[in-house]
Amino acid sequence: MTVVQAKNVVKDYGLPAQAVKGRLQGQVVHALRGVSLDFEEGEFAAIAGPSGSGKSTFLHLAGCLDTLSGGTMQIRGEDTAGLSKKALAFLRRKYIGFIFQAYNLIPVLSAEENISFPLMLLGLDKKEIQERLAPVIQALGLEGMEKRRPAELSGGQQQRVAIARALIKRPALILADEPTANLDSQTGREILEVMLDLNRTNGTTFIFSTHDKMVMEYARRVVMIRDGQIEADQRRSA
Ligand SMILES: Nc1ncnc2c1ncn2[C@@H]1O[C@H](COP(=O)(O)OP(=O)(O)OP(=O)(O)O)[C@@H](O)[C@H]1O
Ligand SMILES: [Mg+2]
Repeated sequence: MTVVQAKNVVKDYGLPAQAVKGRLQGQVVHALRGVSLDFEEGEFAAIAGPSGSGKSTFLHLAGCLDTLSGGTMQIRGEDTAGLSKKALAFLRRKYIGFIFQAYNLIPVLSAEENISFPLMLLGLDKKEIQERLAPVIQALGLEGMEKRRPAELSGGQQQRVAIARALIKRPALILADEPTANLDSQTGREILEVMLDLNRTNGTTFIFSTHDKMVMEYARRVVMIRDGQIEADQRRSA
């Protein structure tokens, strides 16, 4: 099944504040200029390219966090433009896990509360949440850190909490924006191994954005993007 199908996707960011002042009127950033990309179920793919090339923008659109300026985006065969806000929120909650570069952990919640948060949103009961929590905590080596708040964890540990939070829903698709940025190479490698293992055992589809050579080496497909356009798309056999 095609999990993500982008056709001629265009994304322009306007600069409304300046436009109102009249000085930079009509100035628009063309973040994506006609991107067509398909990702099949079970892919372990990286999107690479220089800073500002449109990687995060693409992941946000694939994750239904923002609207397109042109083209179409289908998620699991459904055109996102045709879905209501409610339907989009449901799709995000149920099928998509996000790992953001800035982690986006909730500071007042403990590690385990942060990890279980998506399951609370899905309305699972306490018992079910506990049952799912244990293996995820173990897989990410977070035993003993369950009660700590994000500020009491290292960058790598916070990243692992963010990954655990994305994994606990068992989403079909995980979108990870620079998942190894700010991590030392050993921690980065460990995290990639965890993700690869999930990909192999559960068939979870992964799409990362990255600057990191190591991530590109792990990926079975590397899409190069530059100035909002696809420059290369290379697959290698596993
Ligand atoms: N909310 C926004 N408003 C205006 N311009 C934006 C916005 N978000 C991104 N941009 C611009 O769109 C372009 C693409 O940005 P994007 O964040 O997708 O790049 P990126 O490839 O993820 O870069 P990086 O590697 O630095 O994270 C850049 O020129 C950026 O300045
Ligand atoms: Mg980015």
